[in-house]
Amino acid sequence: MADKRPLLEYTDDEAKDCATESTLTGVSYKPGASPTLIWYCRQIVLRRKLLVGLLVIFVFSYFLIGPADVLDLENVQVHHQSYALDMEVNQTIDQRTTILPQGYLVYSNHCRIVDLDPYKRDVMRHFKRVSYKPCRSHPPLTHVHYNDTIQRYVLSINQASLKSYKVGNDLSCCYQGVVRASETDVNYTSCHAFKNEAKLANTTDSVVVKCKTNDDQIYINAHPTVPERKAIRQRLDQWAKKDRRKLVPSVLMIGIDSISRVNLIRAMPKTAQYLYDNDWFELAGYNKIDDNTFPNIMALMVGYNLSNAMKHCSPYKVNGLDKCDFIWKLFKEHGYVTAYGEDAVKINTFNYLKKGFQQPPVDYYLRPYLSAAEKLLGGNIVLGLPHCVGFETEAEHVYNYALEFAKRYRNDSFFGFFWTNTHSHSDISQTSSMDDYLRGYLQRLVSQGTMEHSIVVFFSDHGLRFGPTRATWSGHLEERLPFLFIWLPPFVRKAHPEFVQALRQNRNRLTTPYDLHITLKHILSLSGRIGSLESLGGAKDCPKCQSLLQPVTLSRSCEDVAIADHWCTCWAYGSVYKNSKVVRQLAKRVVNYLNDYVTTFRNGSLAHLCVPLALQSVSTAYKAQPNDNDPSHIEIYRLIFSTSPNKALYEATVRYNKNLPDEDNLLVTGSVSRLNTYNGEADCMNDFAIKKYCYCRHKGG
Ligand SMILES: *[C@@H]1O[C@H](CO)[C@@H](O)[C@H](O)[C@H]1NC(C)=O
Ligand SMILES: *[C@@H]1O[C@H](CO)[C@@H](O)[C@H](O)[C@H]1NC(C)=O
Ligand SMILES: *[C@@H]1O[C@H](CO)[C@@H](O)[C@H](O)[C@H]1NC(C)=O
Ligand SMILES: *[C@@H]1O[C@H](CO)[C@@H](O)[C@H](O)[C@H]1NC(C)=O
Ligand SMILES: *[C@@H]1O[C@H](CO)[C@@H](O)[C@H](O)[C@H]1NC(C)=O
Ligand SMILES: *[C@@H]1O[C@H](CO)[C@@H](O)[C@H](O)[C@H]1NC(C)=O
Ligand SMILES: *[C@@H]1O[C@H](CO)[C@@H](O)[C@H](O)[C@H]1NC(C)=O
Repeated sequence: MADKRPLLEYTDDEAKDCATESTLTGVSYKPGASPTLIWYCRQIVLRRKLLVGLLVIFVFSYFLIGPADVLDLENVQVHHQSYALDMEVNQTIDQRTTILPQGYLVYSNHCRIVDLDPYKRDVMRHFKRVSYKPCRSHPPLTHVHYNDTIQRYVLSINQASLKSYKVGNDLSCCYQGVVRASETDVNYTSCHAFKNEAKLANTTDSVVVKCKTNDDQIYINAHPTVPERKAIRQRLDQWAKKDRRKLVPSVLMIGIDSISRVNLIRAMPKTAQYLYDNDWFELAGYNKIDDNTFPNIMALMVGYNLSNAMKHCSPYKVNGLDKCDFIWKLFKEHGYVTAYGEDAVKINTFNYLKKGFQQPPVDYYLRPYLSAAEKLLGGNIVLGLPHCVGFETEAEHVYNYALEFAKRYRNDSFFGFFWTNTHSHSDISQTSSMDDYLRGYLQRLVSQGTMEHSIVVFFSDHGLRFGPTRATWSGHLEERLPFLFIWLPPFVRKAHPEFVQALRQNRNRLTTPYDLHITLKHILSLSGRIGSLESLGGAKDCPKCQSLLQPVTLSRSCEDVAIADHWCTCWAYGSVYKNSKVVRQLAKRVVNYLNDYVTTFRNGSLAHLCVPLALQSVSTAYKAQPNDNDPSHIEIYRLIFSTSPNKALYEATVRYNKNLPDEDNLLVTGSVSRLNTYNGEADCMNDFAIKKYCYCRHKGG
């Protein structure tokens, strides 16, 4: 029965039939279709072919022309030799793998860490170079400088910048000292008026400056200083007397949150190239020991893993961290002046969901200044964290303060720890805006003489922990492999050529924050002010860790250095079928483990806040291929899975021993990582250890 309706009368649904009945290469029709319908269908097929053609041309031109341009911009090659050069391993052992040893950072029977390509397309898709934008278009009206003659900081008005401000005849300025009231609060002294300049007292570390004209406030700024105090000078001089003119190296640590070694190369090629070209020692096999900043910094600062840090340093208790054996205390007790600064005061390492310090933990504590600056100076938020604070980015406040501290005490022994979060915490791209600044910064350290007598440690705690790149294999490894570079001053290189040799070799060894902890103790022991390195007790939770100034054995495994399987980058993993019975069972048991963990945490006192989770689906599963023939009945699986109702994506590494009964055959190693961010569903939970597993019963409280 031929259908003779005119074309326009065909309904949308009938037209859709064409789509289901026809293909791109030919058209088949329902028996009895009318010539008009056939003609109509042909038109649709033709149009579709045209569309697909255009799409193909578009896609081709994007891949052939577009990305080439983009990549030229985003991909700045860094020349380095981070890959393993010293193959002590017999090539025969390596027959299982076809990749050449050149593709590895560490290569032994116990550990093979892959040298990742920083420019892999699945990561580069999410990377975009960000340019540096100054926070203000005009210069500040005031500055502080240290006057050597009077040994005071002087606050002065920049006459040259006056023209950038709408100043009448009656400019009146005053400054207030910032006084630390508690870890979370500051007070201000009354405002002292000044004309062109004012000598600052050595009793406060920082000042807020305000200027008015015709009763309108036209200017506010703040300046941190490093005024010398009597007690500090006495300590420095007393210990220096005992040194009998022996040179004692100072220590400057500059750390940046969440930057993998690979992202340093990708996002900060100029800084990375500078380090490679100027004789810094890279530790390319530096592997984190736990999930986020706090445990990794505690390993380096105290030598504890997370459970012992929680037990012995009680970060939840007021005064808990004060009693803890931070390495800066040891330095202070042996005649060093100490400093610590960190940006983004709300998420500071020792304060985020923790109590921080009741007393300033160091001689120069930048937190009160930054609390005041964040509150008063105005600025903006980028990717959820403070970016500009007044005239510069908050990270620059920290870096510049570190520079001033190192300069002020350049003839003394100091220990400075400076940490920034703001330009690197949230994605892999934002930090690229600081590349020029940081290269310039390293050069400023040289020109002010800091590198002459200080050991400088430039490092990160881990790579990016969440977001779109984290679900890729590169992202997984990057998260676990932060960058670490160490500078030795010439006099130390000369006195200890064996350190130079050890550091060169250790570039391609598995190393950890515990090793860095012991290295700091080793540096302190070089002063001759304390017993031997051995007497300092190593790192408590890693008995086999050691100073990085001594050769590390190639045969180290993660187990040797207290790195749980989940954080270990030494093994290759092969993909396995994600919906196999064993994988699904293991995933279900990991979810049960998470639920148990939350219900028993802190004696169950927080359990009522969270809804139990259920397995939604397994998105990928891998099985480890350990190089050293581990007992074959233990299988190590890595599972990425999602849960309901919190729509969370988790990653767990489990040891499965199928020969044992069910109660004992599964071990969740390390902790379970959360790969996506919360959407307000964990706001009720203030305990950082279980926040990532909690879906609040009551939202927003
Ligand atoms: C390499 O193989 C030779 C001969 O089989 C053996 O003597 C040597 O100890 C091996 N070296 C290493 C580092 O395993
Ligand atoms: C330091 O202070 C002295 C005394 O006030 C002054 O003469 C000198 O010019 C100042 N030096 C600098 C560099 O400002
Ligand atoms: C800070 O100011 C508050 C309120 O004015 C006062 O009670 C407190 O004693 C001050 N603290 C310090 C350390 O000056
Ligand atoms: C501040 O400096 C003066 C003069 O140099 C000194 O006498 C005083 O003890 C110092 N104050 C402190 C708190 O160190
Ligand atoms: C350090 O010593 C040098 C040489 O003795 C001297 O010129 C410089 O002013 C001193 N610096 C400080 C901050 O004391
Ligand atoms: C921390 O180290 C102790 C031994 O020093 C060990 O018993 C404990 O399991 C470790 N905890 C973690 C979380 O690795
Ligand atoms: C938790 O339970 C342990 C063992 O039963 C007990 O010693 C401890 O005091 C409890 N802690 C709290 C905070 O209730």
